[in-house]
Amino acid sequence: MKILLVGNGAREHALARALHLDPAVTELHAANGNPGIGRLATLHTVDQNDGIAVAALAANVKADLVVVGPEAPLVAGVADAVREIGIPVFGPSAEAALLEGSKAFAKEVMEAAQVPTAAPRVCRDAATLAAALAEFGAPYVVKDDGLAAGKGVVVTNDLTEATAHGAAILDAGGTVVIEEFLDGPEVSLFCICDGRTVKPLQPAQDFKRAYDGDAGLNTGGMGAYTPLPWAPEGLVDEVVRTVAQPTVDEMGRRGTPFVGVLYCGLAMTSRGVRVVEFNARFGDPETQSVLSRLETPLAGVLLAAAEGRLHELPDLEWSDDASVTVVLASHGYPESARSGDVITGTDEAEAVEGAHVLHAGTALNDAGELVSAGGRVLSVVGRGATLAAAREVAYEALGRIGLEGSHHRSDIALAASEGRTPTGAIPGGAA
Ligand code: AMP
Ligand code: GLY
Repeated sequence: MKILLVGNGAREHALARALHLDPAVTELHAANGNPGIGRLATLHTVDQNDGIAVAALAANVKADLVVVGPEAPLVAGVADAVREIGIPVFGPSAEAALLEGSKAFAKEVMEAAQVPTAAPRVCRDAATLAAALAEFGAPYVVKDDGLAAGKGVVVTNDLTEATAHGAAILDAGGTVVIEEFLDGPEVSLFCICDGRTVKPLQPAQDFKRAYDGDAGLNTGGMGAYTPLPWAPEGLVDEVVRTVAQPTVDEMGRRGTPFVGVLYCGLAMTSRGVRVVEFNARFGDPETQSVLSRLETPLAGVLLAAAEGRLHELPDLEWSDDASVTVVLASHGYPESARSGDVITGTDEAEAVEGAHVLHAGTALNDAGELVSAGGRVLSVVGRGATLAAAREVAYEALGRIGLEGSHHRSDIALAASEGRTPTGAIPGGAA
């Protein structure tokens, strides 16, 4: 099987690694990839949000399957363009990707499908915004309706801050969604969908805030782990039954079947499971840990989803190991990101038993050295028999990597590894 993978982050490097390990994959191509992906795939330069260009490349390399990683190309209709020329594609149409592309649309679908979520108020002017904030009270949850790379949300007890964030979104021509605050820890559950059938992966948790103890701004994600020893028994079945399947059914009823990953971002609240958000793709960095435990070869699963044959597959197989991913971020992230710093020690990191290193914001400079080229630079993944062991592997490997001015969280999976249940969203720290 020849596969074209679209994207250039550590999530795509994790996908490339899993696809590379699948004996059915004979050729792996990536657009545009990064130096890490380049060790496993042939890299092609193309505008990854340009559906016509991606479809042409897929035809050119005679791809049997195209896998789209990030949300931007999905929302831009890249999967539609590839599907139109008859090549199977793993990733939703632009219309189905609106589950991620518009929070207001996602809320409408959840309401129609009776999926439990935080009550929303959609605001297009300052008066509605003020009324919604007054109605729900603190803690305030203020969201940009559109794509904001995980950074469009403010959770705060401060009315002035909440109002200012909402006003900034409105001033920029956007729409604001105000929500009821959800208490309780978050879970990410990725469901592979073929338009009808839903196959859940293993649940994971990510760490969105920049610093230890959930201090600092929201980021794209600073680390993740799986499994979740504190999660209630039967959680996966419950989420498939009450969230993923009804949503996939509703999208089918609307004539916009969902093919790809339905990312269920959930809060385990005191009143039960609630959807925080949907995404239309694999999560980053959770995927780095989730795929490291998947034993079923990945390509066959993604192709079956793209071809509407998921019901033919047996249940997915998983390693009993735990996996912990720690993100190494560049100087200044998330407010800014310094590029061009030399990265050392990645081979030494991978020499740690159970560790591997995935590239995100990396590049090769003119001298052929690996340098930083973005906010989240590397994902360091550690596997071990327990979360504590996996943490040790990940942090031992990370300690061997040099990147001037970089930072990382030291508490990824710490509470869970000590048998504690993590806390929920903490108000404060504007995004
Ligand atoms: P989102 O972009 O919708 O995933 O929101 C980013 C983060 O903001 C989430 O991961 C939560 O930590 C927090 N958040 C979003 N919505 C809520 C809510 N209704 N209640 C509490 N926290 C929330
Ligand atoms: N892990 C958060 C995201 O992928 O949006």
